[in-house]
Amino acid sequence: MSRLAGKCALITGAARGIGAAFAEAYIAEGARVAIADIDIARARDTAAALGKAAFAVEMDVTRQESIDAAVAETVARLGRIDILVNNAALFTAAPITEITREDYIRVFDINVGGTLFTLQAVARHMIAQGIKGRIINMASQAGRRGEPLVAVYCATKASVISLTQSAALNLIGHGINVNAIAPGVVDGEHWDGVDAFFAKYEGKAPGQKKREVGAAVPYGRMGTARDLTGMAIFLASDEAEYIVAQCYNVDGGQWMS
Ligand SMILES: NC(=O)c1ccc[n+]([C@@H]2O[C@H](COP(=O)([O-])OP(=O)(O)OC[C@H]3O[C@@H](n4cnc5c(N)ncnc54)[C@H](O)[C@@H]3O)[C@@H](O)[C@H]2O)c1
Repeated sequence: MSRLAGKCALITGAARGIGAAFAEAYIAEGARVAIADIDIARARDTAAALGKAAFAVEMDVTRQESIDAAVAETVARLGRIDILVNNAALFTAAPITEITREDYIRVFDINVGGTLFTLQAVARHMIAQGIKGRIINMASQAGRRGEPLVAVYCATKASVISLTQSAALNLIGHGINVNAIAPGVVDGEHWDGVDAFFAKYEGKAPGQKKREVGAAVPYGRMGTARDLTGMAIFLASDEAEYIVAQCYNVDGGQWMS
């Protein structure tokens, strides 16, 4: 299909996991994609596997000069940015009494600051070029409610939902749609790390937390990155023109709102 024919996309954190799956799906719909990641070696491998429509760009979403350079390089390579997916993020977990200020600052800087300032840089480009673009922020079911061991990550994802609403209301006058996706539990390297946190704090055997969360999903299993690509394509497409400031759950029925 070609729902994104001729479109140019920048996806942060696209070296692996959900971002890499979105890149593959966008290319299959006719887009060209910048695979932006702090892990440039992995981003290069991912881009190479995706073929000519992909290229890797080094980007640390916590450093303004890196954001500006990655946006400039993407515009130089692709000519424009029609679609931004703010996907890069870090997970962290700890009981309230053990949260450190360093971890709080680090995770907020990536998940919230990275989303805001990448969105800002790309919105400036879209406005200057008169591009009626699409911006998709990766939230989470963790942003819908708190969890006992996940205070900081949950707070960052609640912030992403709030930022999505404010940015959307501010930018729709320029024809730029900002929306978010809230996945549930998606298997992959991210969740290998989450599982390790729960092994540490809840004394679970490796893999046990994954089995438990998968069994608790109404659909009956954890999600995969591919389960999210339909929503990511739709929100990036012309069909989503009248959708503004929304956060869509793609979680097998875990959260209803
Ligand atoms: N996997 C899940 O269960 C799940 C659930 C809900 C939401 N999400 C969200 O979906 C998104 C993607 O998740 P995933 O499972 O693919 O994660 P992942 O950990 O597999 O991938 C994250 C990518 O971000 C990159 N990254 C980290 N710090 C960066 C930085 N400072 N600058 C640029 N890139 C950086 C990493 O190198 C990695 O390639 C994240 O926003 C995550 O919070 C994931």
